[in-house]
Amino acid sequence: MKELSSLITDKTKLIILNSPQNPTGGVMDRKDVEAVAKAIGDRDIMILSDEIYSRLLFEGSHFSIAAIEEMRDRTIILDGFSKTYAMTGWRMGYGVMRPDLAQHISRLMTNSNSCTASFTQIAGVEALRGPQASVEQMNAEFKKRRDYFAERINKIKGFSCKVPHGAFYMFPNIQKTGWKSKPLADALLDQAGVAVLSGTAFGAFGEGYLRFSIANSMENLKKALDRVEEWANKNL
Ligand SMILES: Cc1ncc(COP(=O)(O)O)c(C=O)c1O
Repeated sequence: MKELSSLITDKTKLIILNSPQNPTGGVMDRKDVEAVAKAIGDRDIMILSDEIYSRLLFEGSHFSIAAIEEMRDRTIILDGFSKTYAMTGWRMGYGVMRPDLAQHISRLMTNSNSCTASFTQIAGVEALRGPQASVEQMNAEFKKRRDYFAERINKIKGFSCKVPHGAFYMFPNIQKTGWKSKPLADALLDQAGVAVLSGTAFGAFGEGYLRFSIANSMENLKKALDRVEEWANKNL
């Protein structure tokens, strides 16, 4: 938090928060979020809070910075249907913000993508208003996959992985493999048939990490881990 405070200047216009986070699965708890609010203080800074994984949380509860009274009018919450309701291909999301800001976003959206198809919007309303049991079921399933994946990947030579608290990604450290992230991601794809993202796809700080998605069946995760393990035993 000290680092964040030191980076906020009079030129700062907007701070982006993303919790639970892609790619690390890291989660900011209430204390963290309150510390960000404190660091911002009464400066005229907007917050873009990407909360698309807020219901994919394995421990604790989600706390939005918009829940802090002084922050509410300065926060734009972004959310969508592709994670909570597995509606990735439907291309629909939403924002929660002050009405005067919404006017500008509406103009931008109308002129950039015209409109989200009306039947897609109706499906979104059904998703939000309908039974939520599937969300809980998927959450429990992702937690099982996370635990399985973490246990297995931490036994693979050169890989070490923290257990994420939210979202559906695993972000192991691969520095001990002696490989850089991008060549390792390419080798795993070409030689082991396992698709992962290089941490550097998210910026220079991602060097030394790979991102695995666990949005796949347990059976396929097992197959992928078997292949990565076999590849590591052969090549490291
Ligand atoms: C943090 C975060 N925000 C937003 C999105 C956008 O999702 P979509 O374009 O499917 O609505 C993603 C997708 O991966 C994401 O990881």
